[in-house]
Amino acid sequence: MKQIVLRAALAAAPKASDFEMIDVPTPACPEGGVLARVLHLSLDPYVGARLRGRHMGEAAPQAGSGLIPGAAVVEIVQSRSALWSKGDLAHTMDAGWAELLALSANSLRRIDTDGIDPRAHLGVLGMPGLTAWAGMTQLARVGLGDVLLVDAAAGTVGGVAGQIARLKGGTAVGIAGGPAKCALVENVYRFAACVDYRAQGWETALDAVLRGPPTILFENVSTAMLATGLSRAAPYARVVLCGLAAHYQADGPPASVPAGLIIGKRASLHGLVVYDFYDRWDAFTAEVAPWVRSGDLVIAEDVVSGLEAAPALMETLMAGANTGKCVVDL
Ligand SMILES: NC(=O)c1ccc[n+]([C@@H]2O[C@H](COP(=O)([O-])OP(=O)(O)OC[C@H]3O[C@@H](n4cnc5c(N)ncnc54)[C@H](OP(=O)(O)O)[C@@H]3O)[C@@H](O)[C@H]2O)c1
Repeated sequence: MKQIVLRAALAAAPKASDFEMIDVPTPACPEGGVLARVLHLSLDPYVGARLRGRHMGEAAPQAGSGLIPGAAVVEIVQSRSALWSKGDLAHTMDAGWAELLALSANSLRRIDTDGIDPRAHLGVLGMPGLTAWAGMTQLARVGLGDVLLVDAAAGTVGGVAGQIARLKGGTAVGIAGGPAKCALVENVYRFAACVDYRAQGWETALDAVLRGPPTILFENVSTAMLATGLSRAAPYARVVLCGLAAHYQADGPPASVPAGLIIGKRASLHGLVVYDFYDRWDAFTAEVAPWVRSGDLVIAEDVVSGLEAAPALMETLMAGANTGKCVVDL
């Protein structure tokens, strides 16, 4: 079977040429576990950091042999667990860039495909969707009248965060890179407005579209963006620090927080690590799946076909050139 590995240890953000496809023996079905075929593989920003050993203290995969990590929707092809049968579909955070995987039964979560595309379980109903839901409903506790400002708004986390704000009676304003992403955020995700931070005079444009000062900031990109949001925030704004996409691969000083602005705005800061919310996955699905089924909550997808297409899509994601959820169909 096919697996993709790193050619050598990485010294910079991964590019397509850093990966190679190899043949490896099909793994045996483990006692109490399953052998599963990867149907849809998720590519996420944390993987870039993880490949360099820069994510949550987790080791980088061994060059030449280690599994590149990733979430996936899988089909069980063989089971030695009473919980799973051949043909079952499941979601797992313990997958990777290979055609077949040996997995423990408790790493699998059963998925609802009734009126829901299985791929949605990697995005809007997957780890990124859970991240957005956790930040908005469990930490910031969004409600009627809130004004949310969120960056990387065309991505899965930002896009879901803004749509949850809308669905909970708030207003969402997005920041994204380029007119195509902003059109997606306004017309498809139905934010009140989205501003292109690559355009000249964008901060003036932001002031023009904000309907009142933001009561919630959801930060996905950088400390500079956080400062931009905080300088416009309402007193006692709730800030969710979720991601620092612009800092992950950059060398130079580590990210910092603008302490003076936080004091001046009496802001409260919530650091978010999605791992803490894995035990609330059922509550998340119960609230969000009906919105997905009804079409009230949607996320664009960048989909490519074949495991061999994963490296190029990873390079696109690392450059911030993706729109929406990056998925590889196998
Ligand atoms: N805390 C947690 O537990 C947790 C869990 C999941 C995800 N996250 C974080 O949430 C954020 C969004 O995740 P996502 O999966 O929805 O990804 P995403 O938004 O689809 O992709 C990241 C986006 O960041 C923006 N970006 C700005 N500067 C960038 C740069 N220098 N390099 C690369 N991208 C840049 C790009 O959008 P623009 O072109 O619009 O700027 C890019 O598309 C990421 O920072 C991710 O690490 C955190």
